[in-house]
Amino acid sequence: KTVCVIFGGASSEYEVSLMSSASIIRNLDTEKFDILTLGITKDGRWLLYSGAVENIENNTWMNSETARPAFISPDKATNGLVVLNADGSYTVLKVDVLFPVLHGKNGEDGTIQGLFKLSGIPYVGCGTLASAVCMDKAVTHTLLSAANIEQAHYLWFYADRYFADGEKIRNKIAARLNFPVFVKPANAGSSVGVSKVTAPEKLDAAIRLAAENDTKVVVEEGIVGQEVECAVLGNRGKSVASPVGEIGAGAEFYDYDDKYKNGVAQLFIPARLPEDVAEEVRKTAVRAYNLLGCDGLSRVDFFVTEKEHRVILNEINTLPGFTSISMYPKLWENAGTPYSELLEKLIDCAFT
Ligand code: DAL
Ligand code: MG
Repeated sequence: KTVCVIFGGASSEYEVSLMSSASIIRNLDTEKFDILTLGITKDGRWLLYSGAVENIENNTWMNSETARPAFISPDKATNGLVVLNADGSYTVLKVDVLFPVLHGKNGEDGTIQGLFKLSGIPYVGCGTLASAVCMDKAVTHTLLSAANIEQAHYLWFYADRYFADGEKIRNKIAARLNFPVFVKPANAGSSVGVSKVTAPEKLDAAIRLAAENDTKVVVEEGIVGQEVECAVLGNRGKSVASPVGEIGAGAEFYDYDDKYKNGVAQLFIPARLPEDVAEEVRKTAVRAYNLLGCDGLSRVDFFVTEKEHRVILNEINTLPGFTSISMYPKLWENAGTPYSELLEKLIDCAFT
Protein backbone atom coordinates (compact mmCIF):
# COMPACT_ATOMS: atom_id res chain seq x y z
CA LYS A 1 0.00 0.00 0.00
CA THR A 2 1.14 3.52 -0.70
CA VAL A 3 0.88 5.78 2.35
CA CYS A 4 1.15 9.51 1.88
CA VAL A 5 2.42 11.12 5.08
CA ILE A 6 1.49 14.79 5.21
CA PHE A 7 3.73 16.98 7.36
CA GLY A 8 4.21 20.63 8.36
CA GLY A 9 1.08 22.69 7.90
CA ALA A 10 0.01 26.33 8.07
CA SER A 11 -0.22 26.23 11.86
CA SER A 12 1.50 27.49 14.98
CA GLU A 13 2.30 23.81 15.59
CA TYR A 14 4.22 23.44 12.29
CA GLU A 15 7.48 22.64 14.10
CA VAL A 16 5.83 20.01 16.27
CA SER A 17 4.49 18.35 13.15
CA LEU A 18 8.01 18.13 11.69
CA MET A 19 9.11 16.18 14.78
CA SER A 20 6.03 13.94 14.82
CA SER A 21 6.28 13.26 11.09
CA ALA A 22 9.98 12.38 11.08
CA SER A 23 9.31 9.90 13.82
CA ILE A 24 6.36 8.35 11.96
CA ILE A 25 8.24 8.12 8.65
CA ARG A 26 11.11 6.33 10.38
CA ASN A 27 8.77 3.87 12.04
CA LEU A 28 6.52 2.93 9.11
CA ASP A 29 7.36 -0.62 8.06
CA THR A 30 8.82 -0.25 4.54
CA GLU A 31 8.21 -3.94 3.82
CA LYS A 32 4.50 -3.25 4.09
CA PHE A 33 4.19 0.31 2.87
CA ASP A 34 5.52 2.53 0.11
CA ILE A 35 5.86 6.00 1.56
CA LEU A 36 5.23 9.33 -0.13
CA THR A 37 5.84 12.49 1.86
CA LEU A 38 3.86 15.62 1.16
CA GLY A 39 5.00 18.74 2.99
CA ILE A 40 2.99 21.87 3.64
CA THR A 41 5.08 24.95 4.45
CA LYS A 42 4.11 27.23 7.30
CA ASP A 43 2.80 29.71 4.73
CA GLY A 44 0.71 27.05 3.07
CA ARG A 45 2.63 25.80 -0.02
CA TRP A 46 2.23 22.11 -0.86
CA LEU A 47 5.29 20.18 -2.01
CA LEU A 48 5.92 16.52 -2.64
CA TYR A 49 9.18 15.83 -0.84
CA SER A 50 11.56 13.02 -1.72
CA GLY A 51 14.67 13.85 0.29
CA ALA A 52 16.13 12.76 3.62
CA VAL A 53 14.04 12.61 6.77
CA GLU A 54 16.63 14.69 8.66
CA ASN A 55 15.79 17.67 6.45
CA ILE A 56 12.20 17.46 7.62
CA GLU A 57 13.37 17.57 11.22
CA ASN A 58 15.72 20.49 10.71
CA ASN A 59 13.19 22.35 8.55
CA THR A 60 15.32 22.62 5.40
CA TRP A 61 13.19 20.21 3.37
CA MET A 62 11.50 22.86 1.22
CA ASN A 63 14.78 24.36 -0.02
CA SER A 64 15.69 21.08 -1.51
CA GLU A 65 15.62 20.22 -5.20
CA THR A 66 13.63 17.22 -4.12
CA ALA A 67 10.49 19.23 -3.34
CA ARG A 68 7.98 19.72 -6.17
CA PRO A 69 4.53 21.35 -6.15
CA ALA A 70 1.85 18.72 -5.57
CA PHE A 71 -1.80 18.62 -4.53
CA ILE A 72 -4.37 16.15 -3.41
CA SER A 73 -7.00 16.21 -6.09
CA PRO A 74 -10.58 16.69 -4.89
CA ASP A 75 -11.60 14.95 -8.11
CA LYS A 76 -12.66 11.44 -7.15
CA ALA A 77 -11.70 10.08 -10.55
CA THR A 78 -8.11 11.27 -10.10
CA ASN A 79 -7.90 9.56 -6.74
CA GLY A 80 -4.35 10.57 -6.01
CA LEU A 81 -1.68 13.16 -5.83
CA VAL A 82 -1.19 15.57 -8.72
CA VAL A 83 2.49 16.45 -9.05
CA LEU A 84 3.56 19.37 -11.25
CA ASN A 85 6.61 18.76 -13.42
CA ALA A 86 9.18 21.42 -14.33
CA ASP A 87 7.98 21.50 -17.96
CA GLY A 88 4.42 22.34 -16.93
CA SER A 89 3.03 18.84 -17.39
CA TYR A 90 1.76 16.86 -14.46
CA THR A 91 1.89 13.33 -13.12
CA VAL A 92 -0.75 11.62 -10.97
CA LEU A 93 0.60 9.39 -8.22
CA LYS A 94 -1.73 6.78 -6.84
CA VAL A 95 -2.23 6.94 -3.07
CA ASP A 96 -4.00 4.26 -1.03
CA VAL A 97 -4.16 6.10 2.25
CA LEU A 98 -3.43 9.59 3.52
CA PHE A 99 -1.77 10.01 6.91
CA PRO A 100 -2.03 13.62 8.10
CA VAL A 101 0.58 14.24 10.79
CA LEU A 102 -0.49 17.83 11.20
CA HIS A 103 -1.26 19.59 14.45
CA GLY A 104 -3.51 22.56 15.07
CA LYS A 105 -5.11 24.84 12.52
CA ASN A 106 -5.50 23.71 8.92
CA GLY A 107 -4.57 20.14 9.74
CA GLU A 108 -6.31 19.01 12.89
CA ASP A 109 -9.40 21.19 12.56
CA GLY A 110 -11.38 19.48 9.81
CA THR A 111 -10.32 21.74 6.96
CA ILE A 112 -7.96 19.27 5.29
CA GLN A 113 -10.18 16.34 6.26
CA GLY A 114 -12.88 17.90 4.08
CA LEU A 115 -10.50 17.80 1.12
CA PHE A 116 -9.58 14.19 1.92
CA LYS A 117 -13.22 13.26 1.87
CA LEU A 118 -13.77 14.92 -1.49
CA SER A 119 -10.74 13.10 -2.89
CA GLY A 120 -12.21 9.72 -2.02
CA ILE A 121 -8.87 8.55 -0.62
CA PRO A 122 -9.09 6.85 2.80
CA TYR A 123 -7.32 8.77 5.56
CA VAL A 124 -6.08 8.20 9.07
CA GLY A 125 -7.91 9.83 11.95
CA CYS A 126 -11.06 11.78 12.65
CA GLY A 127 -13.38 13.20 10.02
CA THR A 128 -14.31 16.80 9.39
CA LEU A 129 -16.85 17.35 12.15
CA ALA A 130 -15.06 15.57 14.99
CA SER A 131 -11.81 17.31 14.05
CA ALA A 132 -13.46 20.73 14.00
CA VAL A 133 -15.34 20.17 17.24
CA CYS A 134 -12.32 18.89 19.15
CA MET A 135 -10.07 21.67 17.84
CA ASP A 136 -12.36 24.34 19.23
CA LYS A 137 -12.17 24.27 23.02
CA ALA A 138 -15.31 26.40 23.39
CA VAL A 139 -17.37 24.01 21.25
CA THR A 140 -15.89 20.93 22.93
CA HIS A 141 -16.76 22.36 26.36
CA THR A 142 -20.31 23.13 25.33
CA LEU A 143 -21.01 19.69 23.87
CA LEU A 144 -19.40 17.79 26.73
CA SER A 145 -21.26 19.88 29.31
CA ALA A 146 -24.50 18.82 27.66
CA ALA A 147 -23.47 15.21 28.26
CA ASN A 148 -22.59 15.90 31.90
CA ILE A 149 -18.91 15.18 31.44
CA GLU A 150 -17.15 17.13 34.16
CA GLN A 151 -14.83 19.91 33.05
CA ALA A 152 -13.18 22.93 34.64
CA HIS A 153 -15.45 25.93 35.07
CA TYR A 154 -15.00 28.07 32.01
CA LEU A 155 -16.26 30.86 29.90
CA TRP A 156 -15.52 31.88 26.36
CA PHE A 157 -16.00 34.94 24.20
CA TYR A 158 -15.06 36.37 20.82
CA ALA A 159 -11.93 38.53 21.03
CA ASP A 160 -13.61 41.45 19.25
CA ARG A 161 -16.19 41.60 22.05
CA TYR A 162 -13.34 41.87 24.51
CA PHE A 163 -11.74 44.70 22.58
CA ALA A 164 -15.10 46.49 22.51
CA ASP A 165 -15.68 46.20 26.26
CA GLY A 166 -12.85 44.50 28.11
CA GLU A 167 -13.92 45.58 31.56
CA LYS A 168 -17.27 43.87 31.30
CA ILE A 169 -15.66 40.57 30.34
CA ARG A 170 -12.93 40.87 32.97
CA ASN A 171 -15.58 41.48 35.62
CA LYS A 172 -17.52 38.46 34.48
CA ILE A 173 -14.40 36.30 34.69
CA ALA A 174 -13.56 37.56 38.18
CA ALA A 175 -17.15 36.97 39.33
CA ARG A 176 -17.48 33.46 37.94
CA LEU A 177 -14.05 31.86 38.15
CA ASN A 178 -11.53 31.33 40.90
CA PHE A 179 -7.94 32.32 40.20
CA PRO A 180 -5.53 31.13 38.92
CA VAL A 181 -7.21 30.74 35.54
CA PHE A 182 -5.86 29.63 32.20
CA VAL A 183 -6.45 31.87 29.21
CA LYS A 184 -6.32 30.05 25.88
CA PRO A 185 -7.04 30.64 22.23
CA ALA A 186 -10.08 28.42 21.51
CA ASN A 187 -8.37 26.93 18.46
CA ALA A 188 -4.71 26.14 19.02
CA GLY A 189 -2.60 23.41 20.51
CA SER A 190 0.68 22.65 22.24
CA SER A 191 -0.12 25.46 24.70
CA VAL A 192 0.68 28.11 22.07
CA GLY A 193 -0.86 31.40 23.27
CA VAL A 194 -1.82 29.94 26.65
CA SER A 195 -1.14 31.81 29.90
CA LYS A 196 -1.67 31.04 33.53
CA VAL A 197 -3.15 34.13 35.19
CA THR A 198 -2.93 34.51 38.94
CA ALA A 199 -4.84 37.78 39.43
CA PRO A 200 -7.57 39.77 37.61
CA GLU A 201 -5.25 42.67 36.76
CA LYS A 202 -3.12 40.33 34.70
CA LEU A 203 -5.99 39.18 32.51
CA ASP A 204 -5.64 41.84 29.84
CA ALA A 205 -2.16 40.82 28.64
CA ALA A 206 -3.12 37.15 28.60
CA ILE A 207 -6.32 37.75 26.64
CA ARG A 208 -4.45 39.87 24.10
CA LEU A 209 -1.90 37.10 23.64
CA ALA A 210 -4.59 34.46 23.17
CA ALA A 211 -6.40 36.74 20.72
CA GLU A 212 -3.30 36.84 18.53
CA ASN A 213 -3.85 33.15 17.90
CA ASP A 214 -7.60 32.99 17.45
CA THR A 215 -10.77 35.05 17.19
CA LYS A 216 -12.21 33.16 20.16
CA VAL A 217 -10.80 33.01 23.69
CA VAL A 218 -11.49 30.49 26.45
CA VAL A 219 -10.85 31.10 30.14
CA GLU A 220 -10.76 28.09 32.45
CA GLU A 221 -10.42 27.75 36.19
CA GLY A 222 -7.13 26.14 37.18
CA ILE A 223 -7.45 22.70 38.74
CA VAL A 224 -5.23 21.60 41.61
CA GLY A 225 -4.34 18.03 40.93
CA GLN A 226 -2.66 15.61 38.58
CA GLU A 227 -2.52 16.03 34.81
CA VAL A 228 -3.23 12.71 33.12
CA GLU A 229 -3.78 11.53 29.56
CA CYS A 230 -5.39 8.54 27.89
CA ALA A 231 -4.80 7.33 24.33
CA VAL A 232 -7.87 6.11 22.47
CA LEU A 233 -7.51 3.95 19.36
CA GLY A 234 -10.10 2.67 16.89
CA ASN A 235 -13.14 3.93 15.08
CA ARG A 236 -16.19 5.32 16.85
CA GLY A 237 -18.03 2.67 18.80
CA LYS A 238 -15.14 0.20 18.50
CA SER A 239 -12.40 2.15 20.21
CA VAL A 240 -10.22 1.06 23.08
CA ALA A 241 -8.46 3.08 25.77
CA SER A 242 -4.81 2.71 26.73
CA PRO A 243 -3.52 2.72 30.29
CA VAL A 244 -3.46 6.21 31.77
CA GLY A 245 -0.27 8.29 31.73
CA GLU A 246 0.64 11.22 33.91
CA ILE A 247 2.64 14.37 33.35
CA GLY A 248 4.80 15.82 36.06
CA ALA A 249 5.15 19.33 34.59
CA GLY A 250 8.64 20.81 34.74
CA ALA A 251 7.45 24.40 34.43
CA GLU A 252 4.64 26.39 36.02
CA PHE A 253 2.38 24.36 33.74
CA TYR A 254 2.97 21.86 30.93
CA ASP A 255 3.77 24.54 28.36
CA TYR A 256 5.28 24.53 24.86
CA ASP A 257 8.91 24.47 25.98
CA ASP A 258 8.22 21.76 28.48
CA LYS A 259 6.48 19.70 25.82
CA TYR A 260 9.14 19.94 23.15
CA LYS A 261 12.28 21.77 24.25
CA ASN A 262 13.35 21.31 27.82
CA GLY A 263 12.40 17.72 28.19
CA VAL A 264 12.05 18.29 31.92
CA ALA A 265 8.45 17.17 32.13
CA GLN A 266 8.40 13.69 33.54
CA LEU A 267 6.00 11.09 32.22
CA PHE A 268 4.64 8.46 34.57
CA ILE A 269 3.19 5.39 32.92
CA PRO A 270 0.99 4.19 34.43
CA ALA A 271 -0.26 7.32 36.18
CA ARG A 272 0.05 7.41 39.96
CA LEU A 273 -3.67 6.84 40.52
CA PRO A 274 -5.78 4.24 42.29
CA GLU A 275 -7.07 1.63 39.84
CA ASP A 276 -10.72 2.70 40.08
CA VAL A 277 -9.83 6.31 39.28
CA ALA A 278 -7.71 5.24 36.29
CA GLU A 279 -10.63 3.16 35.11
CA GLU A 280 -12.93 6.15 35.35
CA VAL A 281 -10.47 8.17 33.26
CA ARG A 282 -10.43 5.45 30.59
CA LYS A 283 -14.21 5.13 30.53
CA THR A 284 -14.73 8.87 30.31
CA ALA A 285 -12.14 9.09 27.52
CA VAL A 286 -14.00 6.54 25.40
CA ARG A 287 -17.37 8.11 26.20
CA ALA A 288 -16.23 11.56 25.08
CA TYR A 289 -14.53 10.06 22.01
CA ASN A 290 -17.71 8.31 20.89
CA LEU A 291 -19.89 11.27 21.74
CA LEU A 292 -17.89 13.65 19.59
CA GLY A 293 -17.68 11.08 16.79
CA CYS A 294 -13.94 10.48 16.76
CA ASP A 295 -12.37 7.87 14.48
CA GLY A 296 -8.89 6.38 14.36
CA LEU A 297 -7.22 8.07 17.28
CA SER A 298 -7.32 10.82 19.87
CA ARG A 299 -5.55 11.58 23.10
CA VAL A 300 -7.96 12.65 25.80
CA ASP A 301 -6.44 14.85 28.50
CA PHE A 302 -7.72 15.16 32.06
CA PHE A 303 -7.06 16.57 35.48
CA VAL A 304 -7.67 14.50 38.57
CA THR A 305 -8.33 16.70 41.57
CA GLU A 306 -6.07 16.40 44.55
CA LYS A 307 -8.84 16.19 47.11
CA GLU A 308 -11.61 13.94 45.90
CA HIS A 309 -9.96 12.38 42.86
CA ARG A 310 -12.61 13.94 40.63
CA VAL A 311 -11.97 13.21 36.97
CA ILE A 312 -12.12 16.43 34.93
CA LEU A 313 -11.81 16.37 31.18
CA ASN A 314 -9.45 19.02 29.82
CA GLU A 315 -9.38 18.50 26.08
CA ILE A 316 -9.36 16.04 23.19
CA ASN A 317 -6.51 16.06 20.69
CA THR A 318 -7.45 14.34 17.44
CA LEU A 319 -3.88 14.38 16.10
CA PRO A 320 -1.80 14.13 19.25
CA GLY A 321 1.95 14.65 19.29
CA PHE A 322 3.78 11.67 17.83
CA THR A 323 7.42 12.48 18.57
CA SER A 324 9.60 9.79 20.03
CA ILE A 325 8.88 11.16 23.52
CA SER A 326 5.16 11.78 23.01
CA MET A 327 2.55 10.34 25.31
CA TYR A 328 0.28 8.76 22.67
CA PRO A 329 2.77 6.24 21.23
CA LYS A 330 4.36 5.74 24.66
CA LEU A 331 1.04 4.72 26.20
CA TRP A 332 0.45 2.10 23.52
CA GLU A 333 4.02 0.87 23.75
CA ASN A 334 3.41 0.36 27.44
CA ALA A 335 0.25 -1.58 26.63
CA GLY A 336 2.26 -3.93 24.40
CA THR A 337 1.80 -2.31 20.99
CA PRO A 338 5.12 -1.13 19.57
CA TYR A 339 5.23 2.13 17.57
CA SER A 340 5.35 0.47 14.10
CA GLU A 341 2.46 -1.82 14.91
CA LEU A 342 0.47 1.13 16.22
CA LEU A 343 0.93 2.90 12.88
CA GLU A 344 -0.38 -0.18 11.07
CA LYS A 345 -3.42 -0.27 13.32
CA LEU A 346 -4.13 3.39 12.63
CA ILE A 347 -3.86 2.79 8.90
CA ASP A 348 -6.16 -0.24 9.15
CA CYS A 349 -8.80 1.98 10.80
CA ALA A 350 -8.81 4.20 7.70
CA PHE A 351 -10.19 1.27 5.68
CA THR A 352 -12.95 0.14 8.01
N1 DAL B 1 -1.24 19.50 20.14
C1 DAL B 1 -0.17 18.60 20.48
C2 DAL B 1 0.54 18.10 19.28
C3 DAL B 1 -0.65 17.49 21.34
O1 DAL B 1 -1.75 17.59 21.80
O2 DAL B 1 0.06 16.52 21.55
MG1 MG C 1 -4.12 20.18 22.38
